[in-house]
Amino acid sequence: MRATVYLETFGCQMNVADSERADVRLRAAGFDLSGSPENADVIIFNTCSVRERAAHKVFTRIGEVRRQRIGSEPVVGVMGCVAQLEGESIFDASPIVNIVAGTRATDRLPQLISRALEGERRVLDLDERADGEVWDVPATARTSKYVAFVPIIEGCNKFCTYCIVPFSRGRESSRTAADIIAEIHELCHQGYKEIHLIGQNVNSYRPKTEAGLEGFKGATPFCRLLRAVATTGMERIKFTTSFPRDFNPDIVAAIDEHESLCEWIHLPVQSGSDRILRAMRRGHTVSDYLQRIEAVKNAARPMSITSDIIVGFPGETMEDFRETVKLVEQVGYDGLYIFKYSERHGTPAAKLNDDVSREEKSARFAELEEAQRRFQRTMYERYIDRVLNVLVERPSSKSESDMTGHSTCHKVVNFPGDSSMLGDVKRVRVTAAKQNSLYGEIISAP
Ligand code: SAH
Ligand code: SF4
Ligand code: F3S
Repeated sequence: MRATVYLETFGCQMNVADSERADVRLRAAGFDLSGSPENADVIIFNTCSVRERAAHKVFTRIGEVRRQRIGSEPVVGVMGCVAQLEGESIFDASPIVNIVAGTRATDRLPQLISRALEGERRVLDLDERADGEVWDVPATARTSKYVAFVPIIEGCNKFCTYCIVPFSRGRESSRTAADIIAEIHELCHQGYKEIHLIGQNVNSYRPKTEAGLEGFKGATPFCRLLRAVATTGMERIKFTTSFPRDFNPDIVAAIDEHESLCEWIHLPVQSGSDRILRAMRRGHTVSDYLQRIEAVKNAARPMSITSDIIVGFPGETMEDFRETVKLVEQVGYDGLYIFKYSERHGTPAAKLNDDVSREEKSARFAELEEAQRRFQRTMYERYIDRVLNVLVERPSSKSESDMTGHSTCHKVVNFPGDSSMLGDVKRVRVTAAKQNSLYGEIISAP
């Protein structure tokens, strides 16, 4: 049966990568993919469960689609983290859902959809990956023609007490370096300029075999992988997320040795209080973290550092929060993602008393955001007159005569240009700093 599928993605880059893979598998199975839900025969939501608000979003969207599509009911499927966690109960919560496909079912999505199209009312798949499952996505199926996400490790073994990811994504599982390198060679061949090695914790990378890493030095398998990837010919290599406890200074050494390894590290600290870090079971203290930051700041090139923070974790006092503000000011982040603690059912922290009031969480969020805003302004102003190598990714949404892209230090940079420049790397001199972006002018070809 020839049917049209619309796929909508929420959550992190892992979900974006899974959706790209689902897209390829569906096309290969003969489905058409649609850019909008209006006329699609099948609507699939790839979901995120990291905070309550994220998890709710899918049910809001299902409600909207249901209202839009009265009289022509499409097959509706839920995949990703909410599917894995809520399983069969989604069918009861939302009777128009016909498919629930967990985080390891991506490759089986075409069969699951076919069963639903043939009339099966509740198609459920929460099984493990199939043996020999291939993670790579042909370049032709990618969302961007210039920047590609390459998963290197999936899942998480850390069990930070607040976090649902180890439950939704399962235990850590690393791809072989040989697979990763083959995929990157293919991306180079297709003209990709930038890749992001992605994983819940990339630096916990630990493949079952050394295949592909032979001959590469490094203090950890991840450091060896970085050096191996740096020799593929890919122009710009970024990686995210780094887990502080596993952050070996050899990562910085590898960046110093290879210009293609970009000068940006995302190293989430979550809190500036040792007491709270212990309750979160992060496995690092403030002082351990600052040592990692020191190593990054000693890199040969100036590095961008970004982080995630949770405010209002159970038991967080004003004093704990002050320590977080102090740490943020001390490190000087190029960007910060701040989250209000959200209790996730089934995590160890859900047993603690969620005792920081909603108002207090909002107040702490606003204060930290303001501190970061002030700092970021001066930090961004320091870029004025500097020249950055910017990958031209898309037309700017704000101005018709501008293009936009990212620098190697992962700043958003806008500049006058046109679509003929798409996919080029341009040297841009920064002329103005905005709150979350830079503005500049192209000076010459690199
Ligand atoms: N593996 C990464 C984080 C992945 S989840 C790491 O360890 O840093 C992305 C971010 O969501 C986390 O860094 C955290 O700041 C936030 N987060 C996770 N669970 C949360 C919760 N229950 N409430 C609020 N924020 C949460
Ligand atoms: Fe969640 Fe911690 Fe794993 Fe990050 S390291 S995904 S925060 S459990
Ligand atoms: Fe969300 Fe799942 Fe990613 S919970 S953050 S989509 S791993």
